[in-house]
Amino acid sequence: MMRRQPPGAAVAPAAASLAPQFNYCPATRIYGFPSEMTEPTINPTTRPEWRALQDHYATIKITHLRDLFAADPRRGERFTAEAAGLYLDYSKPRLTDETITRLGALAHACGLSEHIAAMFNGAKLNLTEDRAVLHVALRAARDTVITVDGRNVVPDVYAVLDRMAAFSEQVRSGAWRGHTGKPIRHIVNLGIGGSDLGPLMAYEALRHYSLRALTCHFVSNVDATDFAETVRDLDPAETLFIVASKTFTTLETMANAQTARAWLVAGLGDEAAVAKHFVAVSTNAAAVGQFGIDPANMFGFWDWVGGRYSLPSAIGLSTMLALGAEAYHELLGGFRAMDEHFRTAPFAQNLPVLMGLLNVWYSNFFGAQTVAVLPYDQYLRRFPAYLQQLTMESNGKAVRRDGVPVDYQTCPIFWGEPGTNGQHSFYQLIHQGTKLVVCDFIGFCHSLNPLGEHHNLLLANMLAQAEAMAFGKPGEAVAAEGVPAWLVPHRTFPGNRPSSTILADRLTPAVLGALVALYEHSVFTQSVIWGINAFDQWGVELGKALAGRIIPDLASATSPLTHDSSTNALIRRYRAAREG
Ligand code: F6P
Repeated sequence: MMRRQPPGAAVAPAAASLAPQFNYCPATRIYGFPSEMTEPTINPTTRPEWRALQDHYATIKITHLRDLFAADPRRGERFTAEAAGLYLDYSKPRLTDETITRLGALAHACGLSEHIAAMFNGAKLNLTEDRAVLHVALRAARDTVITVDGRNVVPDVYAVLDRMAAFSEQVRSGAWRGHTGKPIRHIVNLGIGGSDLGPLMAYEALRHYSLRALTCHFVSNVDATDFAETVRDLDPAETLFIVASKTFTTLETMANAQTARAWLVAGLGDEAAVAKHFVAVSTNAAAVGQFGIDPANMFGFWDWVGGRYSLPSAIGLSTMLALGAEAYHELLGGFRAMDEHFRTAPFAQNLPVLMGLLNVWYSNFFGAQTVAVLPYDQYLRRFPAYLQQLTMESNGKAVRRDGVPVDYQTCPIFWGEPGTNGQHSFYQLIHQGTKLVVCDFIGFCHSLNPLGEHHNLLLANMLAQAEAMAFGKPGEAVAAEGVPAWLVPHRTFPGNRPSSTILADRLTPAVLGALVALYEHSVFTQSVIWGINAFDQWGVELGKALAGRIIPDLASATSPLTHDSSTNALIRRYRAAREG
C-alpha cells in the first residue's frame, strides 16, 4: 500500500493499515479486491464498450484528417494534454471527442483505475512470477510509505540511492583510486536487456549534463567484438567495470564479466586489482560474492523491479556516475511527476492513458501493426531501442492473464530512428506505402547545442512531417501544379497517416524521467485493456535453454547431434569450417 507519511512521523506498522490489500489469489485467479478485478481475464472484445468502439470505428474509418481539422478550427489545441513538462498533441490520429469518451469507457470497464491503484499499492500483478510491480517505489519521495509483504520498501530504496551517491561522488571527485593509484576515467557497464538499454539510453540522452572527465561505455553482446572494441583503447588502471545483472546468471553478462576480469588482471598483473575495478548491481548477493566482488561494492535492488523497468534502480549507477547525484535525483523527480499524474489525472487528461488507448485504437480497430518512435533530438538516438524492450518484452504476449489465448492483436512493433535521418530512408513508406504506421514525434523547443539555424531546421522538419502525414497532397493539388497526368499518382500523398507529437521545453534529466515513465505507464495501460501480464517475459526462455544444449555441440567436434535436420546440418558446417 502507498501513502505519504507526515513529516517526522514514524513508519506505521503494516498491521495498522486499513487500506485494502490487492494480493493475487492463485486459486481464484483474482486479486482479492476491489470487485471490478474479479474478472481480470475477460476478453475485452466481448465487452459492450469494445463493440461500441467498433460501431464508432465504422464512421471514423471513412473520415479524413483534412475533414476533421476543417470541421473544428480548434482541433489542434483541443486534442492536447500536458503534464510533468511534456505537452502531448494527439490531434493527428483519426479520432473525435466521442472516440476519447468511448476509449475511456473501455478503460473503466477493464478496471484500469483499479489496476493503477493496485500497482501503486504493491499488488502482485506479475502473476506468473508471483511478484509485485513497484518500479514506482524506486522514484517515490523519501517520505512515501509503500509496503511489500508488510515492509515499507522506500527506506530500502533510499539506502541504496544514498550509497550510490556516496560512491559516485568518490569516483567523480577522483577520491576513488584504481589499484595502481590512478583515478577512474572510464566506466564500462556490462549488462544486457534492461541492465544495458536503460542506462545506455539515459547516458546518451543526458550526455550534455555529464562529467566529461568520465566516459561511460556499454558492453552487452556476447560477441567478443563488443568487449574487444570497447576496451581497445582503455587503460585498465583507469577503468571501472559495473557488472549489472538483476539475476547475475545471464549468459552474456557473465561471459563478458569473466572476460573483463581476465583483461583487468592481465593488464594490472594482480588478482587483488578486482576489488578497486569491479562493482556489481544485482538482486543476487550470493552470486556477486562468488564472482569475487566485495559485498561493500554491490548495489542491490529487488525482485519487484522488472529488468526493463530498472533504469531508476541501482541499474542506473552509470547514469549517476556520469551526472552526479543531484541531477540523478532530478531524473527521478521527472519519473515521479509522471507517476503522480498517471495515478491521479482523469483519463481524458492523462498522458499515459491517452497514449496507451490510442495504441489500442490504432492496433485493434485500424489494424496498424507498427509504431515508429521518432525523436527529433540526437541525444535520444537510443530511445527507440530502449522502448523496443519496454514495449515488446512487456506486451508481446498472446495469452491473457489466465492463460487463455487472445483472439485480437496485442503489442504493435516499436521501432524508430532519430530525425531527420529517417526522413532520408524509411519515411517514404510511411507517406506512400501500403502499411499504416503510427508515429510518435518527440521534439524540444530549445536545443542543448544551439548552433546557427540548426534547431529551427530540425523542428521545422519534425512539424512538416507530421503535417504531411496528416494532410498529404491530393492528386488535384499535384495536377494543379502542372504535373503531367501520368506522374500525378506517383506524386500524390494520401495523408490520413496518424501521428502524435510530444513537445517539451528542453531535454533535461527531469524531462527524460517523465518521458520514460510516460511510455512505461502507456505500456501498462495497454496491457490492462488486453488483459495480459506486462511484467513477465517467458518468451525469452526457450531460446536460452536451446542455446544451452547447442553450446557443448559447438565446443565438441564429435558429439552426436540430436537436433532437427536443419540445426544439425548447420552445426556440421560450422564444425567443418572451424576444423579446416
Ligand atoms: O532475457 C530477458 C531478460 O531477462 C530481460 O528481461 C532482462 O532485462 C535481461 O534479460 C537481463 O537480465 P539480468 O539483468 O538478470 O542480467
